[in-house]
Amino acid sequence: MQVSQDVAETIVDPKAYAAREPVDAAFRWLRANAPLAQVQPAGFDPFWAVTRHADILAVERQNDLFHNGDRSVTLTTVEADRRTRELTGGSPHIVRTLVHMDNPDHLAYRRLTQGAFLPQNLRPLEPRIREIARTFVDRMAEKGGRCDFARDIAFLYPLRVIMELLGVPPGDEPRMLELTQEVFAASDPDMNRSGEAVDAAKMVEDMQATMGELMAYFNAITEDRRRQPRDDISTIIANGEIDGRPIGHFEAMSYYVIVATAGHDTTSNTTAGALWALAERPDQLRKVKADLSLIPGLVEESIRWETPVKHFMRTATADTEVAGQAIAKGDWLMLCYPSGNRDEAVFADPYTFDAARTPNRHVAFGYGAHVCLGQHLGRMEMRILWEELLPRLKSVELAGEPSRWQASFVCGPKTVPIRYVMD
Ligand code: HEM
Repeated sequence: MQVSQDVAETIVDPKAYAAREPVDAAFRWLRANAPLAQVQPAGFDPFWAVTRHADILAVERQNDLFHNGDRSVTLTTVEADRRTRELTGGSPHIVRTLVHMDNPDHLAYRRLTQGAFLPQNLRPLEPRIREIARTFVDRMAEKGGRCDFARDIAFLYPLRVIMELLGVPPGDEPRMLELTQEVFAASDPDMNRSGEAVDAAKMVEDMQATMGELMAYFNAITEDRRRQPRDDISTIIANGEIDGRPIGHFEAMSYYVIVATAGHDTTSNTTAGALWALAERPDQLRKVKADLSLIPGLVEESIRWETPVKHFMRTATADTEVAGQAIAKGDWLMLCYPSGNRDEAVFADPYTFDAARTPNRHVAFGYGAHVCLGQHLGRMEMRILWEELLPRLKSVELAGEPSRWQASFVCGPKTVPIRYVMD
């Protein structure tokens, strides 16, 4: 089936992700009519949009056949790719994190921190995370019944948690927030480094400048943790060994950057999206408040609902096929997570927010070898926040029109103005 250029342009358009409905409609059409469609939006190389849940899993499961690192791992225009390679001396990546690696390196680097993010090793952190959650719930109560839940609470709480895990002092957090938001909202004129709409090449230059600043910051942390090891993730990274040799400088810097960035924007977006959903659905709020054992379900449904990571790209390492469609070696594939999470073949009433949805096998954390390293941490942070907030929250409603970031990679609510009554 021929895919209209309109659909192709929509699934790469940051403004369409901010509006959400156009993207939902484009993915709905693709799933029904061309679930594995080759598209070529203006300015991009052609790629395959993988829109069905089952096909996303099939590609992710075969991580030797579909590589992360061979081409850009996020949507990149031809011009931005050219500028990136110019700046890096040929690499399609500005940093070298787990998401840019394939085996054998991926496995070796992932093993360094994987243990620290397992549920049994996160459990001892629960009391401290609960303390942090309480300070934010108290802050919300002190606001006297009106706040912007995105800016005042949701952006700051997961930031505090991940920075504490990395050992970054609270005084450095505002700059960290700016830098990490510059990474993900490079296409949003309100948030990017230039403070205005910029072309692809400028976006790459801004991104490199942001990464440079993040790396300079974490360089000092590395030196400190090598001299004085502590019980934090930075100490694990700084003193990490790969194949019996100390971790490379660039790879260590990249590692901090992925944990610092991936570790909070995603969780912040999901948290803000959950409250937005509850403010519009008093019945759901009542239901969860009446039975707090529904909180893990609320967390899972808000991750599916928000799906803050909109895509990752893969590159075929050999001629192959997916769902009967021939794919050639070197082809680029877009894993469309929001589409997988609205797939009618997997989810009943996919456009309904249901905290009691079971099962809820969403793909918002990805799948397979690269599945989100911080998934248990993200879930735990959100569970704790709702456990602290919901018993005190009597009622909540929107106090204005919420808005979303303009971004096609990581995107979610930018403002969620609310009016509420709390104990
Ligand atoms: C709601 C919260 C979150 C969502 C929706 C999310 C989503 C994702 C997705 C879709 C991927 C790519 C998976 C794939 O390619 O199959 C990923 C990877 C990753 N995430 Fe998360 N994430 C979240 C929270 C976190 C947190 C709290 C951390 C903290 C450390 C984190 C760290 C990472 C890292 C390091 C990777 C790269 C893993 C690899 O390539 O091996 N994420 N995440």
